[in-house]
Amino acid sequence: MTPPLFKDFERIVFFTGAGLSVESGIPTYRGKGGVWAEYDYEQYACQRAFDANPTKVWDFHDKRREKVASSAPNDGHRIIAAVQAEKPSTAVITQNIDGLHARSGAKDVVELHGSLWRVRCDACGIVRPDETVPMTPRKHDCGAYLRPDIVWFEDSLDPRNLRRAHELLESADLLVSIGTSGVVYPAADLPRIAVRAGAVSVEINLEDTPVSHLFQHRLRGTASDMLARMQGKSVH
Ligand code: APR
Repeated sequence: MTPPLFKDFERIVFFTGAGLSVESGIPTYRGKGGVWAEYDYEQYACQRAFDANPTKVWDFHDKRREKVASSAPNDGHRIIAAVQAEKPSTAVITQNIDGLHARSGAKDVVELHGSLWRVRCDACGIVRPDETVPMTPRKHDCGAYLRPDIVWFEDSLDPRNLRRAHELLESADLLVSIGTSGVVYPAADLPRIAVRAGAVSVEINLEDTPVSHLFQHRLRGTASDMLARMQGKSVH
Protein backbone atom coordinates (compact mmCIF):
# COMPACT_ATOMS: atom_id res chain seq x y z
CA MET A 1 0.00 0.00 0.00
CA THR A 2 1.33 3.45 -0.89
CA PRO A 3 2.05 5.42 2.27
CA PRO A 4 0.83 9.02 2.62
CA LEU A 5 3.07 11.30 0.50
CA PHE A 6 4.50 14.59 1.77
CA LYS A 7 3.38 16.40 -1.42
CA ASP A 8 -0.26 15.97 -0.37
CA PHE A 9 0.07 17.79 2.99
CA GLU A 10 0.78 21.32 4.20
CA ARG A 11 1.15 21.29 8.01
CA ILE A 12 3.46 18.32 8.60
CA VAL A 13 4.79 17.51 12.07
CA PHE A 14 7.74 15.16 12.51
CA PHE A 15 7.97 13.62 16.01
CA THR A 16 11.33 11.93 16.38
CA GLY A 17 13.22 9.62 18.72
CA ALA A 18 16.55 7.85 19.01
CA GLY A 19 15.78 5.41 16.18
CA LEU A 20 16.22 8.28 13.69
CA SER A 21 19.87 8.72 14.73
CA VAL A 22 20.79 5.02 14.58
CA GLU A 23 21.88 5.35 10.95
CA SER A 24 24.31 8.06 12.11
CA GLY A 25 25.93 5.47 14.39
CA ILE A 26 24.34 6.72 17.62
CA PRO A 27 22.86 3.96 19.81
CA THR A 28 19.26 4.03 20.99
CA TYR A 29 18.42 3.93 24.70
CA ARG A 30 16.49 0.69 24.92
CA GLY A 31 16.75 -2.68 23.25
CA LYS A 32 19.92 -4.52 22.29
CA GLY A 33 23.02 -2.29 22.46
CA GLY A 34 20.94 0.51 24.03
CA VAL A 35 22.61 3.09 26.30
CA TRP A 36 20.53 2.02 29.31
CA ALA A 37 21.53 -1.61 28.73
CA GLU A 38 25.10 -0.56 29.51
CA TYR A 39 24.58 2.35 31.94
CA ASP A 40 22.18 2.53 34.89
CA TYR A 41 20.30 5.80 34.29
CA GLU A 42 19.86 6.21 38.07
CA GLN A 43 23.64 6.64 38.30
CA TYR A 44 24.19 8.71 35.14
CA ALA A 45 21.04 10.61 34.17
CA CYS A 46 19.24 12.10 37.14
CA GLN A 47 19.79 15.08 39.47
CA ARG A 48 20.42 12.84 42.51
CA ALA A 49 23.29 11.10 40.72
CA PHE A 50 24.73 14.45 39.62
CA ASP A 51 24.58 15.85 43.17
CA ALA A 52 26.30 12.72 44.48
CA ASN A 53 29.02 12.49 41.80
CA PRO A 54 29.15 15.26 39.14
CA THR A 55 32.45 13.96 37.74
CA LYS A 56 31.02 10.51 36.98
CA VAL A 57 27.93 12.03 35.36
CA TRP A 58 30.01 14.46 33.28
CA ASP A 59 32.38 11.66 32.16
CA PHE A 60 29.31 9.76 30.88
CA HIS A 61 27.97 12.83 29.02
CA ASP A 62 31.40 13.60 27.58
CA LYS A 63 31.44 10.12 26.06
CA ARG A 64 28.08 10.93 24.47
CA ARG A 65 29.42 14.30 23.23
CA GLU A 66 32.44 12.57 21.65
CA LYS A 67 30.18 10.05 19.91
CA VAL A 68 27.79 12.65 18.54
CA ALA A 69 30.57 15.09 17.59
CA SER A 70 32.14 12.36 15.44
CA SER A 71 28.77 11.51 13.81
CA ALA A 72 26.82 13.26 11.05
CA PRO A 73 23.13 13.64 10.12
CA ASN A 74 21.83 10.78 7.96
CA ASP A 75 19.42 10.62 5.01
CA GLY A 76 16.47 10.57 7.42
CA HIS A 77 17.49 13.91 8.95
CA ARG A 78 18.17 15.34 5.49
CA ILE A 79 14.76 14.31 4.11
CA ILE A 80 13.01 16.00 7.05
CA ALA A 81 15.04 19.19 6.52
CA ALA A 82 14.27 19.06 2.78
CA VAL A 83 10.52 18.71 3.39
CA GLN A 84 10.70 21.70 5.76
CA ALA A 85 12.65 23.77 3.24
CA GLU A 86 9.93 23.07 0.66
CA LYS A 87 7.01 23.50 3.10
CA PRO A 88 8.05 26.08 5.74
CA SER A 89 5.13 25.31 8.06
CA THR A 90 6.65 21.86 8.64
CA ALA A 91 7.61 21.37 12.29
CA VAL A 92 10.08 19.09 14.06
CA ILE A 93 9.44 17.95 17.64
CA THR A 94 12.25 15.72 18.95
CA GLN A 95 13.14 13.75 22.04
CA ASN A 96 16.73 13.58 20.77
CA ILE A 97 19.45 15.60 22.48
CA ASP A 98 22.09 15.07 19.75
CA GLY A 99 21.42 18.25 17.76
CA LEU A 100 21.51 16.37 14.42
CA HIS A 101 18.26 17.91 13.18
CA ALA A 102 19.79 21.39 13.41
CA ARG A 103 23.05 20.16 11.86
CA SER A 104 21.03 18.85 8.88
CA GLY A 105 19.51 22.31 8.38
CA ALA A 106 16.14 21.90 10.14
CA LYS A 107 14.79 25.09 11.74
CA ASP A 108 12.95 25.82 15.02
CA VAL A 109 13.33 22.27 16.31
CA VAL A 110 11.40 21.74 19.56
CA GLU A 111 13.90 19.85 21.75
CA LEU A 112 11.58 18.30 24.34
CA HIS A 113 14.41 16.61 26.28
CA GLY A 114 16.98 19.39 25.97
CA SER A 115 20.38 19.25 24.31
CA LEU A 116 23.84 17.73 24.83
CA TRP A 117 25.20 21.02 23.46
CA ARG A 118 23.88 23.36 26.16
CA VAL A 119 24.88 23.69 29.81
CA ARG A 120 23.28 25.49 32.70
CA CYS A 121 24.03 26.74 36.20
CA ASP A 122 20.91 26.23 38.29
CA ALA A 123 22.39 28.37 41.10
CA CYS A 124 22.65 31.40 38.79
CA GLY A 125 19.78 30.51 36.46
CA ILE A 126 21.88 30.71 33.30
CA VAL A 127 21.70 28.45 30.23
CA ARG A 128 24.27 28.71 27.41
CA PRO A 129 25.46 26.81 24.33
CA ASP A 130 28.65 24.76 24.82
CA GLU A 131 30.25 22.57 22.18
CA THR A 132 33.53 21.74 23.90
CA VAL A 133 34.52 18.05 23.83
CA PRO A 134 35.25 17.15 26.57
CA MET A 135 33.12 19.82 28.25
CA THR A 136 35.41 22.36 30.00
CA PRO A 137 35.37 24.07 32.42
CA ARG A 138 32.91 21.90 34.34
CA LYS A 139 32.35 24.62 36.96
CA HIS A 140 30.61 27.98 36.52
CA ASP A 141 32.28 31.26 37.61
CA CYS A 142 30.18 31.08 40.79
CA GLY A 143 31.98 27.83 41.70
CA ALA A 144 28.95 25.57 41.22
CA TYR A 145 29.08 22.68 38.76
CA LEU A 146 27.48 23.35 35.39
CA ARG A 147 25.04 20.59 34.40
CA PRO A 148 23.96 19.43 30.91
CA ASP A 149 20.73 21.20 29.85
CA ILE A 150 19.07 17.82 29.36
CA VAL A 151 15.77 16.58 30.79
CA TRP A 152 16.93 13.73 33.02
CA PHE A 153 14.70 11.16 34.66
CA GLU A 154 12.44 12.75 37.29
CA ASP A 155 13.04 16.19 35.70
CA SER A 156 10.08 18.10 34.27
CA LEU A 157 9.92 19.17 30.66
CA ASP A 158 10.11 22.90 29.91
CA PRO A 159 6.45 24.08 29.80
CA ARG A 160 7.27 26.40 26.87
CA ASN A 161 8.34 23.40 24.76
CA LEU A 162 5.25 21.44 25.77
CA ARG A 163 2.99 24.37 24.91
CA ARG A 164 4.70 24.81 21.52
CA ALA A 165 4.40 21.07 20.80
CA HIS A 166 0.69 21.13 21.66
CA GLU A 167 0.07 24.07 19.29
CA LEU A 168 1.91 22.40 16.41
CA LEU A 169 0.22 19.03 16.89
CA GLU A 170 -3.28 20.52 17.18
CA SER A 171 -2.96 22.13 13.75
CA ALA A 172 -1.12 19.31 11.93
CA ASP A 173 -2.63 17.62 8.87
CA LEU A 174 0.09 14.93 8.83
CA LEU A 175 1.92 13.48 11.84
CA VAL A 176 4.99 11.32 11.24
CA SER A 177 6.39 9.62 14.35
CA ILE A 178 9.87 8.17 13.74
CA GLY A 179 12.09 5.85 15.78
CA THR A 180 10.57 6.16 19.24
CA SER A 181 9.58 3.27 21.54
CA GLY A 182 6.65 5.27 22.96
CA VAL A 183 7.39 4.37 26.60
CA VAL A 184 8.60 7.69 28.04
CA TYR A 185 5.95 10.16 29.21
CA PRO A 186 4.79 12.85 28.79
CA ALA A 187 6.40 12.77 25.30
CA ALA A 188 4.77 9.46 24.34
CA ASP A 189 1.35 11.04 24.83
CA LEU A 190 1.92 13.89 22.38
CA PRO A 191 1.01 12.07 19.13
CA ARG A 192 -2.48 11.58 20.53
CA ILE A 193 -3.09 15.34 20.21
CA ALA A 194 -2.61 15.31 16.42
CA VAL A 195 -4.58 12.07 16.03
CA ARG A 196 -7.50 13.56 17.99
CA ALA A 197 -7.30 16.72 15.86
CA GLY A 198 -7.84 14.57 12.76
CA ALA A 199 -4.32 14.52 11.32
CA VAL A 200 -3.28 11.59 9.11
CA SER A 201 -0.89 9.62 11.34
CA VAL A 202 2.15 7.55 10.45
CA GLU A 203 4.45 5.53 12.71
CA ILE A 204 7.88 4.63 11.30
CA ASN A 205 9.74 1.98 13.30
CA LEU A 206 11.50 -1.33 12.78
CA GLU A 207 8.89 -2.97 15.03
CA ASP A 208 5.55 -2.45 16.78
CA THR A 209 5.48 -0.26 19.89
CA PRO A 210 2.97 0.09 22.77
CA VAL A 211 1.49 3.14 20.93
CA SER A 212 1.31 1.64 17.42
CA HIS A 213 -2.49 1.27 17.75
CA LEU A 214 -2.77 5.09 17.69
CA PHE A 215 -1.48 5.34 14.11
CA GLN A 216 -3.40 4.83 10.82
CA HIS A 217 -0.20 3.87 8.94
CA ARG A 218 2.57 1.72 10.45
CA LEU A 219 5.60 1.69 8.21
CA ARG A 220 8.05 -1.02 9.26
CA GLY A 221 11.59 -0.38 8.14
CA THR A 222 14.46 2.03 8.70
CA ALA A 223 13.76 5.74 9.15
CA SER A 224 15.59 6.81 5.99
CA ASP A 225 13.94 4.12 3.79
CA MET A 226 10.42 4.83 5.02
CA LEU A 227 10.87 8.61 4.76
CA ALA A 228 12.13 8.15 1.19
CA ARG A 229 8.97 6.19 0.44
CA MET A 230 6.89 9.11 1.73
CA GLN A 231 8.78 11.28 -0.75
CA GLY A 232 7.38 8.96 -3.41
CA LYS A 233 10.71 7.21 -3.99
CA SER A 234 10.82 3.41 -4.23
CA VAL A 235 13.21 1.67 -1.81
CA HIS A 236 14.44 -1.93 -2.10
N1 APR B 1 14.71 3.26 12.00
C1 APR B 1 13.52 3.42 12.66
N2 APR B 1 13.32 3.06 13.97
C2 APR B 1 14.36 2.48 14.61
C3 APR B 1 15.62 2.25 13.98
C4 APR B 1 15.76 2.68 12.60
N3 APR B 1 16.91 2.52 11.94
N4 APR B 1 16.45 1.64 14.88
C5 APR B 1 15.73 1.51 16.04
N5 APR B 1 14.49 2.01 15.88
C6 APR B 1 13.42 2.10 16.89
C7 APR B 1 13.41 0.97 17.92
O1 APR B 1 12.65 -0.14 17.46
C8 APR B 1 12.76 1.65 19.13
O2 APR B 1 11.34 1.53 19.09
O3 APR B 1 13.67 3.27 17.64
C9 APR B 1 13.11 3.13 18.96
C10 APR B 1 14.14 3.67 19.97
O4 APR B 1 13.55 3.63 21.24
P1 APR B 1 14.32 4.20 22.53
O5 APR B 1 15.69 3.70 22.57
O6 APR B 1 13.42 3.91 23.69
O7 APR B 1 14.41 5.77 22.24
P2 APR B 1 13.31 6.92 22.46
O8 APR B 1 11.92 6.41 22.26
O9 APR B 1 13.74 8.07 21.65
O10 APR B 1 13.54 7.26 24.03
C11 APR B 1 12.73 8.24 24.62
O11 APR B 1 13.86 7.97 26.72
O12 APR B 1 15.84 7.51 27.71
C12 APR B 1 14.92 8.50 27.49
O13 APR B 1 15.19 10.85 27.36
C13 APR B 1 15.51 9.67 26.71
O14 APR B 1 14.60 10.85 24.79
C14 APR B 1 14.78 9.58 25.36
C15 APR B 1 13.48 8.92 25.75
